[in-house]
Order: sequence, then C-alpha cells, then structure tokens
Amino acid sequence: MKNHTIYVSRINGNQIILPNNPNLTNKDLKRIFHKNHMDDKIANTDTYQKELFKTIYISLHASSKCNMNCKYCFMQDRPDVNITIDEAKRFIDFIISEFPKAEKFIVDPTGSGEPLLRMQFIHELAKYCHLKSDEICKEVLPMLVTNGTLLTKENVDKLQSAGYIFGISIDGYQKTHDANRLNKKQEGTYKQIISNVKNIKHREYLGVAVTLTNDKIDLVKAFKTLSKYFTTISIKPVRSFDHSVEGINEDNIEEIKHQYTRLYKYILQKTLNGKLDSLGVLLNGDDYFGKFIQRVILNHKVSTRCDAGLGRFSLTPNKKIIACPGSVSIKEMELGTLDTGLNQEKTNHFWSIQLERKHCQDCEARYVCGGECMVVSYYKDKKLDSVDEVMCELKKHLFELAVKLKFELIFQNEELFNAVYEGCQRKADRFQEDKELSATLKKLSGQYTFMELKKIKDENIEHYLRIKEESCENS
Ligand SMILES: C[S@@+](CC[C@H](N)C(=O)[O-])C[C@H]1O[C@@H](n2cnc3c(N)ncnc32)[C@H](O)[C@@H]1O
Ligand code: SF4
Ligand code: SF4
Repeated sequence: MKNHTIYVSRINGNQIILPNNPNLTNKDLKRIFHKNHMDDKIANTDTYQKELFKTIYISLHASSKCNMNCKYCFMQDRPDVNITIDEAKRFIDFIISEFPKAEKFIVDPTGSGEPLLRMQFIHELAKYCHLKSDEICKEVLPMLVTNGTLLTKENVDKLQSAGYIFGISIDGYQKTHDANRLNKKQEGTYKQIISNVKNIKHREYLGVAVTLTNDKIDLVKAFKTLSKYFTTISIKPVRSFDHSVEGINEDNIEEIKHQYTRLYKYILQKTLNGKLDSLGVLLNGDDYFGKFIQRVILNHKVSTRCDAGLGRFSLTPNKKIIACPGSVSIKEMELGTLDTGLNQEKTNHFWSIQLERKHCQDCEARYVCGGECMVVSYYKDKKLDSVDEVMCELKKHLFELAVKLKFELIFQNEELFNAVYEGCQRKADRFQEDKELSATLKKLSGQYTFMELKKIKDENIEHYLRIKEESCENS
C-alpha cells in the first residue's frame, strides 16, 4: 500500500506496516517483528470456563410456525407444539443461575419460526426479562428478529414499549429479497415489509438482517437501499443444506469477493469524507464483515468462533436445549433438555472443537475469524469440526479488506481512525456490565426498574447524574 507493505503474523494475527526497503534483510525483518510482538504466542485456556463468557444469549424458539415460506429456511419440519411462557421462564431462570458471574443476558425469542405470531408470549417474555433485571441488578435485554410482515402499528408499539431491540429480515432490494423470501402463496414480500418499515416512527434502534445466497446481488446497492431505513445492517451468508438454495460456492466466490471489495471501497470513501455513519451501520450489529473490522481495528483476538453451546443456549419447541437456533435439526448439537439441564461433557466437547480447530493452525485470519461455524461444517460434511474451503476464501478476503481499511484510515487521517477506534470500543463496552448503573440502582432501593434507569442514562445523562447524586446523598 503506497510504497509500504503490510505484514500479518500467522502466530498471533498482529499486523505491522513498513516502508518498502530493498535493503532490509530477513534478519532485520525478524528483529523488527520481534520488537513489535509479531511472534508473541497467544495463551489459550485448555478447559471450558464459564467465566470467559460475559454476555450470555438465551434463545427461545417462540413460535414453531411461520406465515412465510422462504426457500432457504433452515427449519423444514415444523412441530405442532410451542414453548409455554412458564417453560420459557424456567429456561431463563436456569441459564441465569448457571452463569452467576455473567455481566449481561440477552433473551432472544426469534428461533426458527415467526415470533410475532405469538404476541402475547413475546409481551410476557419482555415483562419477565425486566423482572429478572431488577432481581439480579444486571441487564436482561429482550431482542428479536422478525420477518416484518406482521409489523402493524399496534405490534410495533407493543414491541417498543416492552423494550425490545428488534431487527427485520430483508435481503437487500426487491429483486434479491423476492427471489427467496416468499409468502405462503409463493409471492414476494418486499413491498409489504418496506411499507411496514416506513410506518415505524422510531427507527433509531432498528436493525436489518440480510441473508446472502447464490443469487447475484449488488452489495453496494443493497447497502444504500437499506441504510435509508436502518441504523444497523447485518449481512450473513446462507447456511446451505440438502435441497435448499445454494450459498457461496466455487462458482460465485469471485463475484461475492468482488461485491465485498466494492462495499469496502464505498465505505472507506464515505468514512474518509467524514461520514462515519456508513461504517457505524456495519459495526453496530452482528455483520459478518463488521465483526472482522471491529476486531482488526481494536486488535482483539478471538480463540473461539462463537459461543454456541458455551455461552449461548437455545430452547426448541420440543424443550430440547441446543447450542444455537440454527442447529435445530442437528442431533450432535443438543446439550440436554429442560428437565435434564446441560450435559457438561457436550459443553466440553464444543470447547475442544472450537479451540483445537485443526484446519486453522496456519491461517493468517485465525484470531479474527475464529474458525468454521459448526452448523456449516455439519451441513457440509456431517461432522462439527471441518471447514468449508470456499467460506475460508471469503473470510480471508474480508480479513484482508479489514486490515486495508485500518491502515488506509491510519495513513490518510489518523484523527478519523481514532474516532473509528473509539466507536468500536464503545460497541465492545455495550456487551459488558454497567457496574456503575447497577450500584446506583441498588442505592435507589426500588424507585426505578433497571430498564427505566438505563433508559434515562442512555437518553438524558444530566437527569441520570442528578438521580445518581441524590442516591449518594441519601445512602
Ligand atoms: C429463522 S428466521 C426466524 C425469524 C423470522 N421468521 C425471520 O425470518 O426473520 C431468523 C433469521 O434466520 C435467517 N435464516 C433462515 N434460514 C437460514 C439459513 N439456512 N442460513 C442462514 N440464515 C438463515 C433468516 O433469514 C432470518 O434472518
Ligand atoms: S420468515 Fe423466517 S422462519 Fe419463516 S420461513 Fe422465512 S426465514 Fe424461515
Ligand atoms: S475457518 Fe478458515 S478462514 Fe477461518 S481461521 Fe479457519 S482456516 Fe482461517
């Protein structure tokens, strides 16, 4: 880059940029790398320890039914049962009691059907989250993703007043969305959903979930279209299984990489022009590329790809506890039932798969990517510990783009880089306990609920500081 070369360590993922200098010998380079911690080994914890997981995801398959018929949906056989609200509460109590040292809990009733088909359940679930928040003085945040067809004004009001952070599944623009996201009459749903979105008054916390498939997509166009309505965009590749639509494969990988390169250039340009919103939209949520960018900017290292079955647990309509919502049809990813609790051996097994990652030992993206998704691995090879080489090609490409983005920002405008760094840090902090808020709440002995006080702190810091001051005077 601009007469410089970026080096990435295969040992620990650290990066360094050096001016091109033909006189530098290998010995010089080795010395420079050593001085810049490019050869520091990363220490891993051999055994699973609950304390490593600060935010715990409690997922519930709220509705086994759906009013749509998406071609790629991972839920093919829909059982005729649902979790009751008492079972949901039992599950939440159980997981919270298993993780006394966790700092935050996220309760997510998205599951494998359409959650808004059970509005009463959704409403009672949020009430229970708030009750638990007050009981344990930690955030128990309800969050969900919906297909957006049932977002009437009444339902939106109910979700927002119950404190739900929610996202809507829209696959880009009309052509790409309607290719797969169909209603029961096999018709596209884009227009109906966008019309519902436009009617939502408060879109400050609204997210969108995009699933990438084999269909040709203009990622910049998708990004621009969705940025008009959403403050968070999360794009993820489809997990393709037998008989479903194809995902990223040998035939389309070059095109997908090209689309991501275009998106990278678009976002870089916007950021360099001082418009940080574009990057923010990707960094806010759970975007595939956004996560890589955040880790590269903060130089955060991950030892495991995700927390499935380790700090994330999902209750199916049949009351089985599985590692994550997407693993619903995979027997090997079951961890127990509501009656038996968690099978510790299974948890240890998931930990060793994620830590060992035998295919990843030599990969430069290892500490940013974290390894292959166990569901993808299973769909591909009927085992949990293999990799999908085409997905690796994509991930290495995204890693390279993230590294380039970082050094372009440092090179061209260090002030901007610092602002982006702080934004990434703020996002990382959102997943930690607000200890100061918990302490204030305890002093106020029941005057506010956890969620009320959090809302005041988020929206009106001066008001919050006055409350805090009074709580100190009274205690
Ligand atoms: C299973 S749906 C349930 C919530 C709701 N019905 C919806 O579609 O948003 C949750 C998310 O999973 C995504 N999804 C479904 N099948 C998938 C698959 N095979 N691979 C990756 N994502 C998938 C959907 O696009 C959606 O964003
Ligand atoms: S709306 Fe959601 S649950 Fe329903 S078929 Fe589509 S992806 Fe599956
Ligand atoms: S899954 Fe692939 S891209 Fe990710 S660390 Fe392993 S080898 Fe590298």
